Amino acid sequence: MPEMPDLANVEIDTNRMIGWVPPQSAHVHYDPPVMGHLGMKPEIVVPEPTDERIWVEIEPNVWFRPLFFDMNTGGHGEVLRVRKGGVLSRHRHPAPVHGFVLKGRWHYLEHTWVAETGSYVFEPPGEVHTLTVADDCDEMQTFFAILGPVLYIDDDGKVEHVEDNVGLIEHCKKAYKANGLGEDFVDQFIR
Ligand SMILES: [Fe+2]
Repeated sequence: MPEMPDLANVEIDTNRMIGWVPPQSAHVHYDPPVMGHLGMKPEIVVPEPTDERIWVEIEPNVWFRPLFFDMNTGGHGEVLRVRKGGVLSRHRHPAPVHGFVLKGRWHYLEHTWVAETGSYVFEPPGEVHTLTVADDCDEMQTFFAILGPVLYIDDDGKVEHVEDNVGLIEHCKKAYKANGLGEDFVDQFIR
C-alpha cells in the first residue's frame, strides 16, 4: 500500500469552487459545494414551512410541498398533504418511490396494508395503485421521494397524464405567481 500524503495543513481556495449559484431564501438554505467548479450541486436544507403559501394545491383539500427537483435524474421529493377522505389518483410508477408517513394514514386499494404515522413504504418500479385516505382521517402528510415520472392511468390501464419534473415545476410556478411568492420561488428547490 502506498502511503497517503498528509494534507491536513494544505489550504485550498473555496471561493473558486462555487459554480452555479442557485437562489436561496429563509425557506431554503445551503452551504456552497466543495467542488462546485466540477458541477457539484449545493445541498438543499428546507426547514418546516412557516408560510402556508408554500403548499401547492393539486385539487381541493390536496396539496404538495416541493422539497427538491433533481433535473439530472428526473426525480423529486415532496410532502403530500390530504385533508379529505376518499380515492385520490390511480397511477403507475416506472421508477421507484420511497415514502414515509409523517401524519395520519392511507392505503392503496390494490394492497392489504395500511401506512400509518411512522411507516416507511418502498414502491418498486411497475407498481400500479390507487391512493385512498379513510373518511375518519382528518389529515395525512407523507414524504415521498419519487425517482421518476408518475403515469396517471384510467380504469383500463391507459395513461391519461404523465407528471414529470417539468410539468410539476410549471405547476409550482403558476401557483407561486398567483399567491404572491413569485414564480421564481420554486427555483430554490431545483438542482
Ligand atoms: Fe404512488
